[in-house]
Amino acid sequence: MIAVQGVSFTYPGTSVPALKNIDFTIKPGQYLAISGPNGSGKSTLARLLNALLRPNRGQVLVDGLDTRDEAAIIAIRRRVGMVFQDPDNQLVGATVEDDVAFGLENLGLPPTEIRQRVALALETAGLASLRGRPPHLLSGGQKQRVALAGIIAMEPRYLVLDEATAMLDPVTREEVLQKVQHLRQEKGIGVILITHLLEEALQAEQIMILKEGRILFHGQPHELIQKEKILAELGFKLPATLDLAEALRQQGLKIPVNLLSVEELARTLWKLSLKM
Ligand SMILES: Nc1ncnc2c1ncn2[C@@H]1O[C@H](COP(=O)(O)OP(=O)(O)O)[C@@H](O)[C@H]1O
Ligand SMILES: [Mg+2]
Repeated sequence: MIAVQGVSFTYPGTSVPALKNIDFTIKPGQYLAISGPNGSGKSTLARLLNALLRPNRGQVLVDGLDTRDEAAIIAIRRRVGMVFQDPDNQLVGATVEDDVAFGLENLGLPPTEIRQRVALALETAGLASLRGRPPHLLSGGQKQRVALAGIIAMEPRYLVLDEATAMLDPVTREEVLQKVQHLRQEKGIGVILITHLLEEALQAEQIMILKEGRILFHGQPHELIQKEKILAELGFKLPATLDLAEALRQQGLKIPVNLLSVEELARTLWKLSLKM
């Protein structure tokens, strides 16, 4: 479990805290989306989770390891994998395959295990056909997937994606997120998805909204979509599916409030039509 307890953080040389009094936990296998306006503290929170930053107040515990404990930092970084928005700073290898293997070689794993893990990570990120290419010649979306594959190969227990799908086209983004979901379900990885897209956040089990360094909302997706004030404040527009569901509800159809995807709505309407 990652436990964030009463955490506040102020960047050196600034006077306004970037995060104030943050409390939450995430367990292996859970799926948390974090959203909020630019500058609300999302990336700062991400960096606190794998000890790139240390809290000024409160503590972050990763499976019981305190991020303020210098001796625990390597173990914490192995547990909490992080993929950032800008992939260029994360690519180091001469080929895609080398790049994905880089972290594993640093761990001193046997070559056969490295090959297996790299193959699986490339497959997961949809990169098997690009394995021999030089990463710097790839498109932004492809580079992003190389960075993701490199982290997946490390087999972290928690995966933090900080706007890591922002450079992908919608179809690839959906594919990558689906693959991340499979990893979560198969290996019990805890996933923290930082995104400014409401539709992406609604796929998570829990959503946390940050504003000016504080938690404005933390709950389930179906609870968030009923908070009109918060949605308006964030400039979030409900996806068309939810608007349609609400309109049908007002017509008297029995449509559950926790229904969020096109597929679920279609299934519900199909069942209702069978009863008519
Ligand atoms: N390296 C830094 N030094 C000083 N202030 C920073 C630094 N990085 C971010 N900030 C400030 O901290 C606040 C939160 O930023 P950030 O966590 O990047 O927000 P988000 O990821 O939600 O856009 C902002 O006010 C930002 O200007
Ligand atoms: Mg950010």
